[in-house]
Amino acid sequence: MSATAAIQWPAEAIWEAVSPALPSFSVEILPQIDSTNSELMRRARAGQTEPILLVAESQTAGRGRLGRDWLSQGASTPALTFSLGMPLHMADWSGLSLAVGVSVARSLHPALQLKWPNDVWFEGRKLAGILIETVNIGSTRYAVIGVGLNIGPREAVGLSTPPAWLQELLPGIDAPQALQRIAAPLVQAVQVFETQGLAPFLKTFATRDALAGRAVTLSDGTHGQAQGVDSSGALLVHTDAGLKKISSAEVSVRPV
Ligand code: BTN
Repeated sequence: MSATAAIQWPAEAIWEAVSPALPSFSVEILPQIDSTNSELMRRARAGQTEPILLVAESQTAGRGRLGRDWLSQGASTPALTFSLGMPLHMADWSGLSLAVGVSVARSLHPALQLKWPNDVWFEGRKLAGILIETVNIGSTRYAVIGVGLNIGPREAVGLSTPPAWLQELLPGIDAPQALQRIAAPLVQAVQVFETQGLAPFLKTFATRDALAGRAVTLSDGTHGQAQGVDSSGALLVHTDAGLKKISSAEVSVRPV
């Protein structure tokens, strides 16, 4: 057996599961790219706006929220890194990251929690991050939904939140198997969000809300107690100055 045996990705099975409800959908696997989000944003700006799942076996310049890097280095097993690009016809985008997080967590394990607005946590550590970007295309928008998921043990060096990895919960799982579990339900969840908004996801978010009832600090220094999310997905924080609604994705929230 070659030491560099190619990774077997379930591209066809995912395409077969998704394409009946999304006929122009495709799946593409790349050995390496700077960032799957950057690549789909470039393609969308160049007019390629069909729905696509783009998976990269490695990223050289993975990006996270708030201008941070998303590092794949320091992991014993390659992380799962992919972006789902979809044109979406909707006015209100608020809460999409919550719907995506609910779908990813639901596909993987009942013990996973969601840390507003974009992280999947296990026991207070970060298992996965979600980065959503959009491009205007005429009267509609193209959403690029990027997911980075730790599969095997990784070092905490350089990370703002200690890492968790999926093999803690599902021993032996690899990136292709994780993708197989996540991809088709995620496309379906985004389609549900497009027609019905955040409402169908709120109950599950509440049961998995990692911050609910906890003391938190916002990036502007405000302290308070997290009290769930409202119907638009804004985080509700009880502070000395009253109830604050945090809807800006630019705000970071840390449990104390
Ligand atoms: C975060 O934790 O702030 C979000 C991390 C998102 C990482 C994923 S990996 C696949 C996709 N491509 C990127 O460059 N970023 C996202």
